[in-house]
Amino acid sequence: MEKLMIAGGRPLRGTVQISGAKNSAIALIPAAILSETAVTLDNLPALSDVAIYTELLQELGASVEWSKDQMMIDPSRLLSRPMPNGNVKKLRASYYLMGALLGRFGEATIGLPGGCNFEPRPIDQHIKGFEALGARITNENGALHIQAKELRGAKIYLDVVSVGATINIMLAASRAKGVTTIENAAKEPEIIDVATLLNSMGAKIKGAGTETIRIEGVDALHGCRHSIIPDRIQAGTYMIAAAATRGDVIVDNVIPKHMEALTAKLQEMGVHIYEMDESIRVVGQPEYESVDVKALVYPGFATDLQSPMSSLLTQTRGVSILSDYVYSNRFKHIPELLRMGAKIKVEGRSAIIEGCQLSAAKVKATDLRAGAALVIAGLTVAEGVTEITGVEYIDRGYDHLVTNLSNLGAEVWRQND
Ligand code: EPU
Repeated sequence: MEKLMIAGGRPLRGTVQISGAKNSAIALIPAAILSETAVTLDNLPALSDVAIYTELLQELGASVEWSKDQMMIDPSRLLSRPMPNGNVKKLRASYYLMGALLGRFGEATIGLPGGCNFEPRPIDQHIKGFEALGARITNENGALHIQAKELRGAKIYLDVVSVGATINIMLAASRAKGVTTIENAAKEPEIIDVATLLNSMGAKIKGAGTETIRIEGVDALHGCRHSIIPDRIQAGTYMIAAAATRGDVIVDNVIPKHMEALTAKLQEMGVHIYEMDESIRVVGQPEYESVDVKALVYPGFATDLQSPMSSLLTQTRGVSILSDYVYSNRFKHIPELLRMGAKIKVEGRSAIIEGCQLSAAKVKATDLRAGAALVIAGLTVAEGVTEITGVEYIDRGYDHLVTNLSNLGAEVWRQND
């Protein structure tokens, strides 16, 4: 079993380069199959989820060339083969194949998605969107068969603000007849990134990044070249780690605007932050004030940074309340932090976190961001070695983690037992 070992207690110092956004990449890769000709993606992160998506596209008949941070996807020979099992179940974002194949071929059979299941994550809003566009959907032994003779534009009001449903509906609607509007759409930067790619492929999408998105369907989409936005969650994780270790780190290749909710919260705690055009310098301080944090949809504080933030909040002088209004129970990392001596109580949607000194322990990452929380916690512990299992979850979202942290002066290594 592979473990991540951390001998903490050293302030992180130096510069870290942020990769392209995971949650953009795993939507852009399936979006590319709506094209008749080759699409090139630049600034691609080297993540296990990207590797799985590459295999999925190859299984469907696409030709994929992936070298360093660039991927060329030629979907000209792709077919809508049924994919009830296998790789689709390893990945949450395999649900984007539903919208992309439906848009291109009018049909898709895709197994219900897997991925980080920190709590039940329904896809009813995706299904509602496809049905509004004219698709018929049946559940065949755990796989959804989605079929439409003709996709027609529709007005769709999302009951829940959902990143996945907004993107999935954009994918299918870009090839529907007529105009689709998505009301109560998600506004995350990854939505804008997907709309930008689709528009470069010839789609007509307006309003991405606002709560109303208008999609005028087109007859065909074509190849293009697109550079993926920086990963705001990876960037935020390094910012939090810099603060937690009382370090001094320049987080480079970021869009500071995407980091505003986190930046403001760190400043409120007393962390010093200096914003530049494409980088942010985080200078940790000996003492921090406790703060209350509410994870919300964008532009609120990101739920994906809620778990990493909980580790930082153990380093304050008082009691902080960290609430998640996107997921009601994304707290699987808390029992692991308790093993490290944290003083945290979970009450409903909130974790009540009292400042304290953590100690080294053997802990388990149960999902990607829970893993990031444990890495940050381990980095703060001055004595002993923190051992983290469940490294495969961390590899879903943090490429070059050990190299990056080592370059910042941390003592971190992988160990196989
Ligand atoms: N929801 C529904 N019905 C739906 C869809 C969502 O009730 O049909 C609910 C969810 O249960 C949740 C809320 O709506 O309470 C938001 O879910 P959303 O659909 O926005 O999440 P997602 O698209 O499945 C993406 C990211 C997540 C990130 C969320 C929120 C991908 C592949 N995943 O998930 O990222 O937490 O948006 O920002 O893009 C991560 O990177 O660690 C991660 C989990």
